[in-house]
Amino acid sequence: MPVTAPSFPLIAPSLLSANFAALGNDIEMINHSRADWFHIDVMDGVFVPNISFGFPVLKHIQRIAAKPLDVHLMIVDPDRYLERFYQHGAAIITVHYEACTHLHRSVQAIRKLGARAGVALNPHSPVSLLEDIIQDLDLVMIMSVNPGFGGQSFIEATLGKLRHLGELMEQKNCKPLVEVDGGVTLENAGLLVKAGATVLVAGNTVFGTADPAGMIGKLKDLEETG
Ligand code: DX5
Ligand code: ZN
Repeated sequence: MPVTAPSFPLIAPSLLSANFAALGNDIEMINHSRADWFHIDVMDGVFVPNISFGFPVLKHIQRIAAKPLDVHLMIVDPDRYLERFYQHGAAIITVHYEACTHLHRSVQAIRKLGARAGVALNPHSPVSLLEDIIQDLDLVMIMSVNPGFGGQSFIEATLGKLRHLGELMEQKNCKPLVEVDGGVTLENAGLLVKAGATVLVAGNTVFGTADPAGMIGKLKDLEETG
């Protein structure tokens, strides 16, 4: 599925907070909403202290999702599975800096498959770690919570980190997408966009409301109102 960037911020609702007993309904809701991507959180219980879902579930998501799958791999040794995630419809594959010994190789492997390559930084990892790889990235993901769970509180230091990332991008003359993941709310989303975020992940904020599609629309309208 082609990845287009119609208008920023791109909104990527996280299925981690969806109703897994009726996942098809939530996927259709996103299909018909103004969301841009599906955010897919894959956790292995090793890199993070939680296990989410894998290929059997992704197979069904791929079948009915009508928007690009933004796959966030919170797993050790992601190289082993990149091809299978691509075959399961991943348009964007993001690996963690902290999980990749040979990050450059992992990024090249993702791009060779035909997907967009992203690298995620945990809250403790400074953006300067990306100095020698940022020019090869389609996306940088700044974790604004410790990965592993939905519904956590936003870490305020993320805003400063986004500004540092902007400086690094300018210095290196490159423009990857900047995705913020964790604790995004209507209250902090405007600030995040002002600080340079171009993709917002939202789990609890979208699925914790009575009108998820309406909430997606509100986040999407930040460009005009934020
Ligand atoms: C956390 C995941 C997030 C999570 C976001 O490890 O990477 O994508 O689903 O959920 P909220 O928006 O509820 O913090
Ligand atoms: Zn995520």
